[in-house]
Amino acid sequence: MNSVTLALPSELHEIDSECVLWLCAPADINAAISTLPVSSQVFVKQVLDDEAFTGAEGQSVLLHRPVGLAAKRWLIFGVGDLKHDIALSFDHHSANHGTRQLFVEAFKRALSSHSSTITLVLPYHFSQPSVNSEQVFAGKNKKKTTEEMLISQLLRAFYFGCYQFKGYKSSPHLSSKEEPALTISAPPTQPLLTCLKYENSLANGMQLARDLSHMPANICTPMYLAEQATRLASNFSAITSEIINQSALEALSMNAYLAVNRASAFPASMPVIHYSGRRDGNNEDDKNAHPVVLIGKGVTFDSGGVSLKRGSDMHHMIYDMAGAACVLGVISAAAELGLNINIIGILATAENSIGGNAYRPGDIITTHSKQTVEIISTDAEGRMLICDALSYSEQFSPQSIIDIATLTGAAITALGHKCSSVMSNSRPLEQALIKAGEESQDPVWPFPIWPEYQEAIASSHADMANAGKNSPGMITAGCFLSRFSQGFPWAHLDVAGTAFKHGTANSATGRPIPLLLTYLQHLASSRKSS
Ligand code: BES
Ligand code: ZN
Ligand code: MN
Repeated sequence: MNSVTLALPSELHEIDSECVLWLCAPADINAAISTLPVSSQVFVKQVLDDEAFTGAEGQSVLLHRPVGLAAKRWLIFGVGDLKHDIALSFDHHSANHGTRQLFVEAFKRALSSHSSTITLVLPYHFSQPSVNSEQVFAGKNKKKTTEEMLISQLLRAFYFGCYQFKGYKSSPHLSSKEEPALTISAPPTQPLLTCLKYENSLANGMQLARDLSHMPANICTPMYLAEQATRLASNFSAITSEIINQSALEALSMNAYLAVNRASAFPASMPVIHYSGRRDGNNEDDKNAHPVVLIGKGVTFDSGGVSLKRGSDMHHMIYDMAGAACVLGVISAAAELGLNINIIGILATAENSIGGNAYRPGDIITTHSKQTVEIISTDAEGRMLICDALSYSEQFSPQSIIDIATLTGAAITALGHKCSSVMSNSRPLEQALIKAGEESQDPVWPFPIWPEYQEAIASSHADMANAGKNSPGMITAGCFLSRFSQGFPWAHLDVAGTAFKHGTANSATGRPIPLLLTYLQHLASSRKSS
């Protein structure tokens, strides 16, 4: 992945990129034009007049080899009254939604000019020193300048909107183009460089997760995911990985976990990733020395098993490992940033297949926690993997455990593709995740796991059933998992609606990596044992 750079050109007309993307707001347009050399001003003004360009949102004019300017192309792009939008805090999760979309549109237009180098010129107002010192609320105890907010928003639009999965087409010209090198004309000050580093790491993590999610199940097998864990460990000195193999899982009595993979042609395994980033970990009172455990559902293909899925939608189930991909992505981003925290990532991988060896509806399985589960549907496989991974995690005495899973179709029914759901046994953890979601514009919304809802999974002959009848499916799944996470703060994120949205070429979103990275960063920057 190319990484974006910051550079402040001495003069606009000297920028020699293949394309200058010039963002203009209506109030600033004359002031902006006056920053061009006098010889170009008349010409640019004339073109903008002819095209009735006012700087309104989404308007654009493309100049080819404009006289007096070094760049090959100038794409002048209207952003409307941006200052107001950007100054709105990130506190409300959708406040900047329109702005992000607008920036994606700007980059898409610049990319369609097939330029391999793009220089982005910020709206005139933002290049003024007075703005750079304006402080706006940006989440927990933090202030950011509007310029930092703008840079983050632009980078997310660039990386997010311009992502393309390379795919497997045999003729190269049909596959995607190289990403252009982007320079943002802003001073490389420390706060902006910090912001850039964060966004680049986030983007790298998200790209990893999105690529893995797009890979089909014949390529992205459970072994392939295990190799990704090993690869992270070889890329970062703070990361180690261990692959718990089938016989070790058997010795641990991870019977629910093993049941899911039983009819698969691949052996069962459970990759565990350790990121040890905590620097003052010898302090006994150091609460932050306790790791955050992240468990990702990694079903490389979910056929439903004996409770077979309908054929027409089944191919979407290559995305059922998006939770595991998210765990890989967020740990790699945390390691790249060197976050001062310890993380354990568990990839709960399996292929949910059919065959004579498959687990069946009616089976009763003794889980790793010794609680027994009656199988109602073999298609409720994610919770079978995660319940054993949850009770396995207790040994790490975690400060929190978060599982991330494309767990239920009901999550899409409840929330669509806009936000993930959170269910938790800890109010502070739930609040911390909601806050991180708002701040990172990757929102989650809470749902209850009250005793009233727990009744849905009563079973006649086992401690519980793995699915309810006529019950709200997303909550029922949360209730099931809550029974395996009683000794520690735990939260479950159902990302069935947010981790991917099928029907588009680039379905995988990389969510909820923005949320989790923000959550981890908050922990890493909070004072120890407070
Ligand atoms: N992976 C699916 C959930 C899913 C469905 C994710 C559609 C994304 C899009 C999960 O394993 C599943 O099959 N869940 C069942 C649970 C039911 C059997 C209790 C479901 O949602 O129907
Ligand atoms: Zn599934
Ligand atoms: Mn399923």
